[in-house]
Amino acid sequence: MDVLEAIKKRRSVRSFSQEPVDRDLLIQMIDAARVGPSAANRQCLKYVVVTEPELCAEVFKNLKWAAYTAPVGTPAPGFTPTAYVAVCVLQKLALPTMAKYDAGAAIQTIMLLGTARGVDSCWLKAVNYPEVSKLLNLPEGVELDSVVALGKPAEEPTQVDLEEGKEGVEVIKYWRDENSRQFVPKRALGDVLVWEKF
Ligand SMILES: Cc1cc2nc3c(=O)[nH]c(=O)nc-3n(C[C@H](O)[C@H](O)[C@H](O)COP(=O)(O)O)c2cc1C
Repeated sequence: MDVLEAIKKRRSVRSFSQEPVDRDLLIQMIDAARVGPSAANRQCLKYVVVTEPELCAEVFKNLKWAAYTAPVGTPAPGFTPTAYVAVCVLQKLALPTMAKYDAGAAIQTIMLLGTARGVDSCWLKAVNYPEVSKLLNLPEGVELDSVVALGKPAEEPTQVDLEEGKEGVEVIKYWRDENSRQFVPKRALGDVLVWEKF
């Protein structure tokens, strides 16, 4: 799959088959994130990869899913993520205002590689940070930025283009239809692309 295909195919997935994510793929994801862009090349990120089922279950209890459709959208029992990457910032290396950009770039890299290899994901920041940090034994000076949930998809959300001119915040909410299929509206190209000057 080429990069653009993976970019277009990637959707936040919130229902997963229970087939484990291949360990080598998890390693490749972190290896890919490792060589990504980094402010001042500080490379301040650490990645805690969680695959052990009991620990996955504990992490799951500390996440909130799909605010616009809640409680629908939370992975149902038997369809929860089979792996997580906890993206953490090593404070002693970080430029404080910049670390989150490194994290964003790394997370997108992880998610795109996953999509290209048949593993989907959901980036989560609705996280009980103290609890997850405790579960993962994060030491002083290692701060959790985000949790990326991973697994083989058991749903296939659909992206829909908004009509041009629909610029407000009322139109951007994803929704589920009567079959619980997720639809994700994206702003029209003409509403986000500015040539030369605003
Ligand atoms: C910074 C950030 C935080 C997010 N936090 C959550 C979250 O806590 N829970 C959740 O279910 N989805 C979360 N998401 C996923 C968004 O809801 C999702 O990206 C958005 O609805 C667009 O859908 P798409 O990823 O399929 O394009 C987050 C995404 C980003 C970029």
